[in-house]
Amino acid sequence: MSTVVLVGAQWGDEGKGKVTDYLAQQADLVVRYQGGNNAGHTIIVDQTTLQLHLIPSGILYKDKLCVIGNGVVIDPEVFFEELENLNKMGITGENLRVSDIAHLIMPYHKLLDAFEEDKRGEMKLGTTKRGVGPAYVDKYARRGIRIGDLFEPDLFREKLRRALEYHNFILTGIYGAKPLKQSEIEDKYLAYGERFKKYVQDTSLLIYEAVKSDKNVLFEGAQGTLLDIDHGTYPYVTCSQPVSGGAATGAGIGPNYIDKIVGVAKAYTTRVGEGPFPTELTDEIGDYIREKGHEFGTTTGRPRRCGWLDGVVLKYAARINGLTSIAITKLDVLSSLPVVKICTGYKLDGKYIENFPHNLGELLRCEPVYEELPGWEEDIGGARKIEDLPPNAQRYVRRIQEITGLKISLIAVGPAREQTIPLEDVF
Ligand code: IMP
Repeated sequence: MSTVVLVGAQWGDEGKGKVTDYLAQQADLVVRYQGGNNAGHTIIVDQTTLQLHLIPSGILYKDKLCVIGNGVVIDPEVFFEELENLNKMGITGENLRVSDIAHLIMPYHKLLDAFEEDKRGEMKLGTTKRGVGPAYVDKYARRGIRIGDLFEPDLFREKLRRALEYHNFILTGIYGAKPLKQSEIEDKYLAYGERFKKYVQDTSLLIYEAVKSDKNVLFEGAQGTLLDIDHGTYPYVTCSQPVSGGAATGAGIGPNYIDKIVGVAKAYTTRVGEGPFPTELTDEIGDYIREKGHEFGTTTGRPRRCGWLDGVVLKYAARINGLTSIAITKLDVLSSLPVVKICTGYKLDGKYIENFPHNLGELLRCEPVYEELPGWEEDIGGARKIEDLPPNAQRYVRRIQEITGLKISLIAVGPAREQTIPLEDVF
């Protein structure tokens, strides 16, 4: 019995949904620990496709508990909309649990996300405008409202009054917007509170008890290491901690209860939104990867920027997260390319470096140094064992293993659950 953290090793969208879905088969609990409805994954049930942004994909397994931890910020409107859509597909959500101390995304957070982003002009970050960043800002400004506050109407009203006093000042004074009305938000959110009651509890205790009774727990990170508020390409980052350390704080468990940490990495690299991306391809190979890999954002529909696999990024992710293995996704997308490249270092101001630089200016000046490997023609969607892969695809995977010094736990060769090559037991 063990606990596994699944973390994005790049800039998000690594295919964590598919890997979570695969590993969840062996889990008793699936826990999401950070982010909000800025994330997104597509689920397919009986030929019906649904996009989820907040509720973890573990919800598909009726016999597993699916937990939204305290580190997540929750937009109640999105939460109940997703739940209703799941209900229509016959998924009741009875197995869903939500932390009583998770913070709420409020209407002013969504407005501010859009206004702040517009005000940044050329320095825009490319946020998803879902209010996620401003909700975390309020959390740290100790102005945030938590789900549990909805069950104490007087306390909630007073917290809202204070928050609105501040935010209406900003909304009207800086952005020339209309002030928001307390009564409208109050009624709506107190009604949400009633609906939340059956899902909300102390999830830290729930997880602790599961760990103590030898259950398998899967912690699912959203976004990725390079979007981490501390360790990502600041300021082009999200406002939470996708790194494995975030699982401990965002789920409320001690780090000593984490057994394994799996980094999920695409066989190439993508990034959505602004910010440095050393191996970005702005040529026809980038376009080819985008089309073949359907690289368009689940949340905003934006085309993702595409590029070669960056070994420097992966080594950085291995170090920051303490990865115990890597799961490679979308290897099938690279089929038919005559040559595939892996970045093994950067050239910075005439010097060769192998460590990911923190300084934004330096990172922007980095030029990737590539190793070229021969590609493979074959469609590999039907491969189920490593030996089923063409020798050049096997060689590509081996190189990732050598460069990162990590075991590869699984390889995904298509979106379906069975299009997976398991290499190591994760649990
Ligand atoms: P925010 O999280 O909406 O504040 O956006 C901050 C940055 O993180 C932007 O560059 C977004 O495009 C990026 N981002 C947020 N969520 C995701 C995700 O789930 N996948 C990839 N990028 C994301």
